[in-house]
Amino acid sequence: MLRTRTCGELRLSNVNETVSLCGWVQKSRDLGGMTFIDLRDRYGLTQLVFNMDWDKNLCEQARQLGREFVIQIKGQVIERESKNKNTPTGDVEIKVLELNILNAASTPPFTIEDETDGGDELRMKYRYLDLRRNVVRKNLELRHRLAIETRNYLDQQQFLEVETPVLIKSTPEGARDFVVPSRMNGGQFYALPQSPQTFKQLLMVSGFDRYYQIVKCFRDEDLRADRQPEFTQIDCEMSFVEQEDILNTFEGLVKHLFKAVKGIELAPMARMTYADAMNYYGNDKPDTRFDMKLVDMKTLVSGKNFKVFDEAQTVLAICAKGAAEYTRKQLDELTEWVKRPQIGASGLVYARYNADGSLKSSVDKFYNEEELKRWAQHCGAEQGDLILVLAGAEDKTRKAASELRLEMGSRLGLRDKNTFSCLWVLDFPLLEWNEGDPNLLASLAGRWHAKHHPFTSPKPEDVPLLSSDPGAVRANAYDMVINGVEVGGGSIRIHNRDLQAKLFEILGFSKEEAQKQFGFLMNAFEYGAPPHGGLAFGFDRLCSLFGGADGIRDFIAFPKNNAGRDVMIDAPGEISEEQLNELNLKLLPKA
Ligand code: AMO
Repeated sequence: MLRTRTCGELRLSNVNETVSLCGWVQKSRDLGGMTFIDLRDRYGLTQLVFNMDWDKNLCEQARQLGREFVIQIKGQVIERESKNKNTPTGDVEIKVLELNILNAASTPPFTIEDETDGGDELRMKYRYLDLRRNVVRKNLELRHRLAIETRNYLDQQQFLEVETPVLIKSTPEGARDFVVPSRMNGGQFYALPQSPQTFKQLLMVSGFDRYYQIVKCFRDEDLRADRQPEFTQIDCEMSFVEQEDILNTFEGLVKHLFKAVKGIELAPMARMTYADAMNYYGNDKPDTRFDMKLVDMKTLVSGKNFKVFDEAQTVLAICAKGAAEYTRKQLDELTEWVKRPQIGASGLVYARYNADGSLKSSVDKFYNEEELKRWAQHCGAEQGDLILVLAGAEDKTRKAASELRLEMGSRLGLRDKNTFSCLWVLDFPLLEWNEGDPNLLASLAGRWHAKHHPFTSPKPEDVPLLSSDPGAVRANAYDMVINGVEVGGGSIRIHNRDLQAKLFEILGFSKEEAQKQFGFLMNAFEYGAPPHGGLAFGFDRLCSLFGGADGIRDFIAFPKNNAGRDVMIDAPGEISEEQLNELNLKLLPKA
C-alpha cells in the first residue's frame, strides 16, 4: 500500500504517529517560511505542513505543487496550534518528512469544491472531476448504502437476485425502445429492455417465487429532471400473492430503507384510489406533505352572470392558508405564472378572506360578500386565507390547479425536504385512450393503451366491462408516491392465456401480431403459471429523494444530459461505413 492512513481519519489520539498518506492537492497556502497543503481523498482532508526551517528543499518542492496534483507523503502527526473545528481532522496536521509526486495535474476547468464555479455542461464534460467533489461523491455513497440495504431486506425475505438479458425484444412500458442492430442476423434488431417485465414473469412460471434485481432499464422518451434514458430499477416479482401482500412487502422495504439509512421511523403508509387522487389533487402522484385539496366550485359559482365560470366545464379552487396578505403585485405575478404555456390556465380569480373578517375578490362585480362567504365555507377557508380559483376545460383545469397547488405549497414553505409523506395510489384505470402521446410511435395513436403495461390484471369485478366500456375498467395496479414523486409502481399480472390474448386484442394487436411479439409469454401461461404480481422502484428517484434533491442526475455516476447525450465520451456518435455495411444498414441523407 502506498498509504497507511486515509485523509479523513487522523485525530489528536494519533499525535506522534508516523503515517503515509496519498491524495490530491486541494489547496496550498504559501506563507513564506511555511507552506500548508490540504490533501484530499475520498475520506476527507488533512492539512500538511512544510517549514523552511525543517527542510528547505522539501518546502520548495511543496511550493511547486499545483491544484489536483496526486502526491504521496510520509510524516508525523502533530497537534495544530490553531485548530479548525469545521473539519473532523482539524485538531492535527502532518509535519511532512517525505514527498513524492505520483502525478502532475493540469489546472482543472472548475474548482473541486462544494460550491463550484463550474456550470452544468462543463461539470458533465469533466464528470470524473465533478465526482471528486464531496457533494456528488456523497450522493453515490448514499446510493451504495441504499443498494446494500435493499439487498439485505430482500434477501431476508427470501428474494433471489436473478440477472435477465439486456439484448431482448420490445417490452412495452410506455416509451419508445432503444434498438441494437444484429450483425449475425442481418436486418434484425434487438431492443434494450424498458424493464425486465416479461422475464420476471417467466421466472415466476419457472417457480422462482420471489425475484428481484437492481437493474438498468432503457427508455427512449422525453427527458426531465426525474427521467434518464437509462436508469435503474429495483425490480421485484412474487408468486402466490394478492395485491395486499405486495403492498405490505414493499412498504416494509421502504420502511427498512428509511430506518437503516436515515434513522427515520415511517408511519404506516396512507392509501388513496386513483379516482380520489385525481379528484382532490388533480394528479396521480399527489404531494401529501400538505393538504390544500382542490375544491369543486362549479355549482356554487354558476348563474351569477360571470361568463368565465358559467361557460367553464370545471371550476376548481384551492385555499392557501395564511396567504390573504398576498399583495396585488404577488397576485398579478401568480396570474402570469398560471398563464404560462406549461400551466395553461387562461386566468386566475382570487378572493381574500382578510384577518378582519371582510372578503374581497377579483370578481367583486359578480359576487357580493355574502356569496364570497359561501365560497370560504365551501373551501374551508378561515380569516387570513386566500382562495384561488381556476376555470376551464376539465382536464386542463385540473392539471393547472394541481400545478398551482404545488407552487403555492412551495411558496408557503409546505414542502420541506426532510419531511416524508408516503402514499399508495391504488386502482388505476387499466387502459387510457391514446390521443397521440409524443412518447409513443405515431401508429399507436387512436387506440387504447395500457396505462401501466399490457400484462396488468383487470380487477376481477370489472372484467365484464372489458368489452362494453374498456375505459371504466380498473386494474389491480398501484404506485408508491413519496412527496409527490412516483418512486415505484406495479400490478397483479394476468396469468391466464385467454385473458392476456383478450387484452392484446383490445390494445389493437391482431392475433398474429400478439403471437409474434408475446407468444413466448402466452405459451408459458399454458405450462402452469402461478398467480403473481410485483412492482419496480425507480432506484435513482429513491436515491434523490433520500438525498433531498430535485433531480436524479447527481445520483448517477455518469448521467446523460437533457438531449440524451453523454458529453464526456461524446455519445451517441457516428459509426464507420464498414460497421454500417456489416450491420446491413444504410444511412439516409439527413432531411
Ligand atoms: P414503471 O414503468 O412504472 O413500471 O417504472 C417503475 C419506476 O421506474 C421509475 N422510472 C424512471 N426513473 C428514471 N428515469 C426514467 N426514464 C424512468 N421511468 C420510470 C419510476 C417508476 O415508478 N415493469 C414495471 C413494473 C412492474 O409492473 O412491476 C415498470 O417498469 O420511479
